[in-house]
Amino acid sequence: MPRPLIIAPSILASDFAKLGEEVRAIDAAGCDWVHVDVMDGHFVPNISIGPDVVKALRPHSKKIFDVHLMIAPCDPYLEAFAKAGSDIITVHVESSPHVHRSLQAIRALGKKAGVTLNPGTPVSTLENVIDLVDLVLVMSVNPGFGGQSFIASQLEKIAAVRALIGGRPIDLEVDGGVTADNAAKVVQAGANALVAGSAVFKGGNYKANIDAIRQAGALARGEAA
Ligand code: DX5
Ligand code: ZN
Repeated sequence: MPRPLIIAPSILASDFAKLGEEVRAIDAAGCDWVHVDVMDGHFVPNISIGPDVVKALRPHSKKIFDVHLMIAPCDPYLEAFAKAGSDIITVHVESSPHVHRSLQAIRALGKKAGVTLNPGTPVSTLENVIDLVDLVLVMSVNPGFGGQSFIASQLEKIAAVRALIGGRPIDLEVDGGVTADNAAKVVQAGANALVAGSAVFKGGNYKANIDAIRQAGALARGEAA
């Protein structure tokens, strides 16, 4: 059974002055997951939000909170993000001296564990952790900022990760520069979960924007949107 197509708007592109309202709006617009980008100004050159904000947003939606940690070291904060109401916690291969242990810790907290590869991180880094994860996230931009252009070389990596996953029940997510125009290629390469920040929040019609990405992805899967 193929994993379902997931559209996960990144609230990094939303209006931070009204985050609760923005989460309710993407929920009502039909998103599948809410993608939360956590940045520390150290692992990536930008600072965003922490566990208290995730906790404050939790009552605003029942959808899966897909929390992408761009922080190093990540281990001291895993429990706080778990308690704040994250459903999936994703860490970068480079964000812990022992990523295997970090993934074990996420699962021990009762959460789904995700592992992320930067554009420059090889697929081989997954080989020894693949049986510990529920999600692999391929970054298609260098992490730190929304609104960057999709790095096309990552399509090959998505296909290689897809092959490594094989029949395991693991979601393959892609994050960075995803739009309705490139969603088909990303899905054809093997991704089933699409993160989109700018492409969802641009203009203000979140439903039309989500629908356009979903339609492109579904078509590429040979499904009706
Ligand atoms: C980048 C973040 C992404 C980003 C996506 O570090 O992980 O989630 O916000 O934004 P767009 O879709 O605008 O590239
Ligand atoms: Zn992200």
